[in-house]
Amino acid sequence: MTALRSHPRFVSLEGGEGAGKTTVLHALRDALRAEGVAVVNTREPGGTPLAEMIRNLLLDPAHEPPAAETELLLMFAARAQHVRETIAPALERGAWVISDRFTDSSYAYQGGGRGLDVGLIAELERRVVGLQPGLTLLLDVDVAQGRERTRGRDLAPGGNGPDRIERERDEFFERVRATYRARAAAEPQRFRVIDASQPAQAVATAAVAQLRAWRDGAA
Ligand SMILES: Nc1ncnc2c1ncn2[C@@H]1O[C@H](COP(=O)(O)OP(=O)(O)OP(=O)(O)O)[C@@H](O)[C@H]1O
Ligand SMILES: [Mg+2]
Repeated sequence: MTALRSHPRFVSLEGGEGAGKTTVLHALRDALRAEGVAVVNTREPGGTPLAEMIRNLLLDPAHEPPAAETELLLMFAARAQHVRETIAPALERGAWVISDRFTDSSYAYQGGGRGLDVGLIAELERRVVGLQPGLTLLLDVDVAQGRERTRGRDLAPGGNGPDRIERERDEFFERVRATYRARAAAEPQRFRVIDASQPAQAVATAAVAQLRAWRDGAA
């Protein structure tokens, strides 16, 4: 049994659909790079060529929907690859790694959303992943407000429309949000909750400030 290690230069962004994770990811990278800090941006599911293939299997609405357990195990299969091939090597080189989603997403979506056993998720986290972010920024926003934002994106020219998980009902996303908030309350040393209902610039500024405070305190 491997233990769960935390790494101070590993940061994750979490939150529901349209919370602004990807927008903040770019702002954090730009802020660190402006200071000459090496940073790798990555995302889940995905982050390596094989894990991106698993992402397509997971999110493509065109084929047979995976059972909840299949979804969980594919998420962790992708994450196992992501940690070993992308995240750990970048941390070993001395870079910061910022991931758009990480294991908290499995607790929120497969645990809270789909109702799978949290003990199983924790076991997979310890035995298959073994690594935790030092800092997790939770972008918290109303389900309806987040949905409104992704609708704009999905309807944009060249957009693909909502993926399989984005097609879930609002009750699903309410459970996702509640699980995230409960996890943040239970682990205040790792989580910082950001009010993501604010305009994008204010959310980015708050996220950058939290990252700098964390770096100055921890690294
Ligand atoms: N604070 C904000 N206020 C208004 N619009 C925003 C804000 N943050 C992001 N947006 C816009 O909302 C849409 C969704 O943002 P973004 O893609 O960053 O969210 P996300 O959390 O990564 O979503 P997903 O979970 O679907 O990947 C984008 O069109 C983005 O420009
Ligand atoms: Mg995104």
